[in-house]
Amino acid sequence: MPLPKSVTVVEVGARDGLQNEKTVVDAADKIAYVDLLSRTGLRWIEATSFVSPKAIPQLADAEEVFAGIRKAPGVRYPVLVPNLKGYERAKACGADAIAVFTAASQAFTKRNINMSVEESIETFAEVVRRAKSDGMWVRGYVSTAFGSPFGDAVTPQMVRDVCVQLTELGCDQLSVGDTIGVGVPTQVDEIVPLLVRDIPLDRLAFHFHDTRGTALANVYAALQHGVAVFDASSGGLGGCPYAPGATGNVGTEDILYMLQGMGIETGVDLALVRAASRFIRGVIDHDLTSKAFQALEAAEARVATS
Ligand code: COA
Ligand code: ZN
Repeated sequence: MPLPKSVTVVEVGARDGLQNEKTVVDAADKIAYVDLLSRTGLRWIEATSFVSPKAIPQLADAEEVFAGIRKAPGVRYPVLVPNLKGYERAKACGADAIAVFTAASQAFTKRNINMSVEESIETFAEVVRRAKSDGMWVRGYVSTAFGSPFGDAVTPQMVRDVCVQLTELGCDQLSVGDTIGVGVPTQVDEIVPLLVRDIPLDRLAFHFHDTRGTALANVYAALQHGVAVFDASSGGLGGCPYAPGATGNVGTEDILYMLQGMGIETGVDLALVRAASRFIRGVIDHDLTSKAFQALEAAEARVATS
């Protein structure tokens, strides 16, 4: 199959990234970060999560953040919702795109959202029904699709079954996630053909964490199967507090650098993403893991000292 001519990058740094920071970032800084991301050409920017503040204290300010960001024309700002309570909160703020989230691993799902996978599908049936009747766009996350942090088995068939159920509920897009960054390209080669038997290719997104350095290899494998939507985090932020050992997503700068070099259109300005990453690095006060970000910083430092 020819590689896609263009790819959509879904920016998840403000959600997947900031949910995993030790320090709670002020709402004003979150808003400034999202506003910087909104200027980059990204068309999908996950803004926050309307989850229990006890589960994710880092995003307890979802209302304030969502209300405060300047919504750029042509950009969608999906928000995570785990249940009807989260849905009502998101709707009250004017969200028009949501993401529900379950997983292939039962053990992870229980710890993450205190439900079995089956219970999560039941919960989301009503959430998605309401969202669709309210005219919203809905994404369904399937986490731990490449392995569980708790050692329980995850098979491609289990991933496929959850994806099909979410599609039947009415999800517009599925994001198949390697939450703990254990996946390798041969797993991608197995999973994508299995999924596209039942799910249109253009509804599939992949979400790779780079914990073991395989994220870009996995992106490339998925591109070869025609997948054209990928999640990424500016600077390589990211991780899930309920997935021990999970580190950041593939860096937005990294995926943009690779796609640009391959002649694949994204419509996103890498330099402007880097500016957003620099801003958030100053707030969280630790180094960022994106290799392309680091290389650009190092090149600039060399110029400055020469
Ligand atoms: N927003 C705000 N508060 C919520 C909420 C929501 N969406 N859902 C539940 N709550 C509150 C309830 O009101 C209740 O509050 P109380 O103790 O003051 O009465 C409390 O949380 C417990 O509610 P319950 O329905 O029993 O939920 P739970 O304890 O079984 O937790 C979830 C289930 C889904 C709410 C919780 O596990 C969660 O938010 N998980 C998200 C994890 C996450 O975001 N992970 C990272 C993304 S992969
Ligand atoms: Zn993630």
